[in-house]
Amino acid sequence: RIIILDFGSQYTQLIARAVREANVYCDILPYHKNFAFDENLKGIILSGSPCSVNETDAPNVDVAAFIEQVPVLGVCYGAQLTAKLFGGRVDKSDKREYGRAQMNKQKEDKLLTGISQKSQVWMSHSDSIKQLPVNFEILATTESIPVAAFKKTDSTHPLYGLQFHPEVYHSTEGKKMLFNFLVNICGCAQDWTPASFAEETITQLKKTIGDKHVIMALSGGVDSTVAATLISHAIGDRLHGIFVDNGVLRKGEFEQVLETYKSIGLNVKGINAKELFYKELAGKTDPEAKRKVIGKLFIDVFHEEALKIKEASFLGQGTIYPDVIESVSVHGPSVTIKSHHNVGGLPDIMNLQLIEPLRSLFKDEVRRVGLELGIPRDMINRHPFPGPGLAIRILGEVTEEKAKLLQEADYYYIKALKEKGHYDEVWQAGAILLPVKSVGVMGDERTYEYTLALRAVTSVDGMTADWSHLPYEFLADVSNEIINNVRGINRVVYDISSKPPATIEWE
Ligand code: XMP
Repeated sequence: RIIILDFGSQYTQLIARAVREANVYCDILPYHKNFAFDENLKGIILSGSPCSVNETDAPNVDVAAFIEQVPVLGVCYGAQLTAKLFGGRVDKSDKREYGRAQMNKQKEDKLLTGISQKSQVWMSHSDSIKQLPVNFEILATTESIPVAAFKKTDSTHPLYGLQFHPEVYHSTEGKKMLFNFLVNICGCAQDWTPASFAEETITQLKKTIGDKHVIMALSGGVDSTVAATLISHAIGDRLHGIFVDNGVLRKGEFEQVLETYKSIGLNVKGINAKELFYKELAGKTDPEAKRKVIGKLFIDVFHEEALKIKEASFLGQGTIYPDVIESVSVHGPSVTIKSHHNVGGLPDIMNLQLIEPLRSLFKDEVRRVGLELGIPRDMINRHPFPGPGLAIRILGEVTEEKAKLLQEADYYYIKALKEKGHYDEVWQAGAILLPVKSVGVMGDERTYEYTLALRAVTSVDGMTADWSHLPYEFLADVSNEIINNVRGINRVVYDISSKPPATIEWE
């Protein structure tokens, strides 16, 4: 494996994903975390950072000790830190350099094998290396900086630095450089594949769970489905899945999802708790209050069901890597904007041990493992859907009637996206029922009905998003389809806000 030491860069996860894409396993650790050198550890990558190496108390690691053990690659801040630690000079650049630059190769080296003489790279830095330490050599330059890539020439293991970000899309040959580092320099075996992950995880789960039982809440989403399938491959029907209909799922989703679970051999019980949810949601208009009601009721319903499974000792969860990476916060803690992930607290009340088979995977890796396990593509490529479901897409109070109305409208929207081939281009889509009525005319009749907003976004991780530029004709057809078929809605609008400053959901 490879260890990526994180100094707080926004791109650290991209480094990890690029490493995993090369079928090499890696972990991200905060730069100050201790770790052991063992025979599996093949190399270390130092990330970028919003800090400057010249600040007092700038984050620091013992690179000299690392290269006694394994090869090291410093990226951006990681490169500057390395240069400075060995006696080089790093200063504020005359001109801050952001965005595209052209790297000019100065020397052939293992790191640059197969890289063009001139190659586009992506810069994002305000300091630069003005002078390299002795026994360091320049491998590449750009028009504005003398040291874009360097190497230490006299160490036990190779030490490299790149001033640019090889991990981002716009460094066109960056992935190849990372590949060279991982495979040609560190000697990584490239045996981290979806199939090997599934096989090892199932073996491990068998060992950990033994002859005990596991309970698990399933949501119909990709993560919980893949996690449950791995567990089920290990222990069969000793996995007890529970899927709750909270009344704010999509139209027909409860039945369809249960059907899919059955087809992949999962032992899942469906619980219809709609009435309970509608009753508790009555009168609640504040988004956070609605989230709390749904989160709490879900735990109550699940708890009641779980108590019936007396033999359960474990609780399965679909936690994935981005949920557990310890992030380095060099400029204060980040702020919680909405109270996401509201189904915590379960293991404590039930005294269960957690089982999280996807803890080390990124979302795209979860999908690949899911396909490897034979889960239908439809299930794997589903858009994300929030835990509180349509409740946060019905602005204001949620009632059964409104839920039905939105389910209908959303059904036509998603169906059209799929039929016209837009579903997979969009990261997430949904309809929002606004608490606004307006006047319309149908035949000779005046109507006074609800307004529906359509939302579709493109995104990589949901943190930032742009509105999808769906064709006008498509929007026109969907609008007609909805207004003609869904009684109670006489006006459709399309949301053209990006995130930030808007969010994906309206509540
Ligand atoms: P926002 O609206 O914050 O949404 O841009 C980002 C992503 O998170 C989902 N989301 C939620 N998921 N519980 C969840 O499980 C929630 O309360 C919640 N609120 C938003 C949203 O659907 C999008 O994918």
